[in-house]
Order: sequence, then structure tokens, then C-alpha cells
Amino acid sequence: MKKTTYILGIESSCDDTAAAILKDNVVLSNCIANQKIHQSYGGVVPELASRAHQVNIVPVLQEALSIANIDKKELSAIAYTRGPGLLGSLLVGSAFAKSLALSLEIPLIEVNHMQAHLLCHFIKNEDQSTPEFPFLGVTLSGGHTQLVLVKSHFEMKEIGKTRDDAIGEAFDKCGKIMGLNYPAGPEIDRLAKEGNHEAFDFPIPKVDGLDVSYSGLKTAFINLVNRKSVKNPNFINDNLKDLSASIQKTLVTVIINKIIIAKEKYDLNRVVIGGGVAANSEIRKVLGEKAKIHQWEVFLPPFQYTTDNAAMIGIVGYHKLLNKQLGTMNQSVSARLSL
Ligand code: KG4
Ligand code: ZN
Repeated sequence: MKKTTYILGIESSCDDTAAAILKDNVVLSNCIANQKIHQSYGGVVPELASRAHQVNIVPVLQEALSIANIDKKELSAIAYTRGPGLLGSLLVGSAFAKSLALSLEIPLIEVNHMQAHLLCHFIKNEDQSTPEFPFLGVTLSGGHTQLVLVKSHFEMKEIGKTRDDAIGEAFDKCGKIMGLNYPAGPEIDRLAKEGNHEAFDFPIPKVDGLDVSYSGLKTAFINLVNRKSVKNPNFINDNLKDLSASIQKTLVTVIINKIIIAKEKYDLNRVVIGGGVAANSEIRKVLGEKAKIHQWEVFLPPFQYTTDNAAMIGIVGYHKLLNKQLGTMNQSVSARLSL
């Protein structure tokens, strides 16, 4: 009989310090220390992020062990985010993971953060089965927007991507011009619920193939706000909900259009979404409709596994451990690690 494993996942690629404990594919604890310090800067300040990771990482690990009710000596392996992400942030998590693995004399496992966003669907979940291969993976985060042909846990090929801003970045930058706190995506989502998405019209960027572009759309949004604010200095406040609903609808339509093309091109009926923007209610609604009306098989992550978390790092660690894909002490982190 297979031995039970306890995997510690550590995530520190951007501004969340996270630790999770998995018993095989079951999450026992999933702890996150958010870094509020970046809000007043309107975006993540890399140097401050690294320092906050150093402060947070030990308490977050202690919390994860305590909730899971296990001692660190019971851990079977440590999985950590090797990239992509902010170099200084990645270094804190990797140095910590390596030191702990060395002192406990257990295997170290490197994890690609973007793979983890897609593989979070393999965490045991009573409400949803795991996706079968192959599937169309879609990563929607603050730093990435990718269409991915996924043939197995570790056979992933990027077939489309953003040529400039990521979808989450576009949400955040449009929110910033409206005076919303960073990250603005969740707030736009909330405001949009009471707005009219037809109030303002934004052009869908024309990009060949499966790539997308969000920077022109962001500029169109900023230009509209600036132009209208000249005549009405209260334009933003007067139209906050309609602006949110209109830009959200357009940002979502851009990626949905490409998902439709990719599904047909690669003859895939299964669509698996990952990343922070997977929490967005408009994208969840549209994909829900596609599932109902067009019989797409859609997999949306539970909310706790949408934005950055360590449970998704742990589940990749579990599958890599099963496959004996272990890391090494001399492997350096990679800010631009590809799939
Ligand atoms: O995956 P993630 O936590 O970090 C990266 O790997 O980048 O994604 C963060 C992004 C931010 O841009 C945030 O604004 C966006 O996810 N986000 C949302 C929502 N929740 C988080 N965007 C739109 N609607 C949401 N509900
Ligand atoms: Zn992420």
C-alpha cells in the first residue's frame, strides 16, 4: 500500500506569503499573509515585498503546521515556487524551503507558479471531479494571461498569450485611474454588479491567432475617463459602477473570444481556468453559460485557490513526488520561468 505523504507548499512569488500542508491530495491547511503595505503605492513594490516575505514566512509556516496539526518532522517533502515572479520575493521562499528541507533531510521540489494555477484543480474537492486530459488551460492573473494546451500534469504548451498587459494588470490599472485601491480587480467586480455594462463602449483589440492584447484597451479606458473628466470633474464618481461594468465586460469578452477559437482549433471541449482573475464573477457567469448552453466542460477553481496560495504549490509537489521529479539545492529561482 502507498505510504501517506505530507507535503509543505511554500509560495512567495509576488506579494502574498503563503504556506499550506497537504496530506496526499487533501489540503489540511492553507495560510496566507497578505501584504497590505503595497496599497498606498498603487502596486507591488518589489523591495518591500521581499522584506515582508522575510517577516511573514516563519509565522505563516507555524500557522499552517498548527492548523494541520502536524509536527514539521512529519513532513515528507517541501515544494516551493521557483518562478515566474519577482526575483527578490522568489529568493526568500526558495532559501527558506531549501534550508528547511536540508535541516529535515527531506526532498525539495521546484514548482512553476503558472502550472500550479492550473493544477490546483487536482486538489481533492468534494464538489467537483478533476479534469481529464487533454484540456485547454487558461491562466488569468496579475502577471500572466495564457492559453495552454495541457496534455498531462507536466506536458503543457503555451498556444496563446498576452502581447502586453495581463488581464489582472488591466483590471488593476483601470481601477487605479478610478481611484480604487490595489489590487482593484475584486473592487471592480463588486461595483460592476450594480452597473450597466452597455453604458460605455470600448473597442475589442484585433490581434491575430490566439494572442490577446490589453494595453490598448486600458489606454482607451484612461483616455475616456480623462476626456469626460474635463467636462465633469465628478465623472468618475458619478459613473463608477457603469465604468466598472463596461470595462469588466470588455476585458472578459477579449479572452472568451480567444477561448472559443482555441477550443475549435485544438478540438478541445474541456476548459480549465486558473489565476486570480478566475475569481471574477463575470468570467464565471459567461463560462457557466457556455457550459450550460454549449455543453462545454468548464472547471473553475474554488475561490481559495484562485489568487496566489500555497495549496496549489503543494498539489504540484505531491504529483512531482509521485513522479520522482525532485529538485536540487543548487537550482536557482527564475523570474521568467516558462511553462
Ligand atoms: O494569480 P494572482 O493572485 O497573482 C498573480 O500571479 O499575478 O492574481 C492577482 C490578480 C490581480 O490583478 C487582481 O486584481 C486579480 O487577480 N483579481 C481579480 C479578482 N480577484 C482577483 N480580477 C477581477 N475580478 C476579481 N474578482
Ligand atoms: Zn499567481
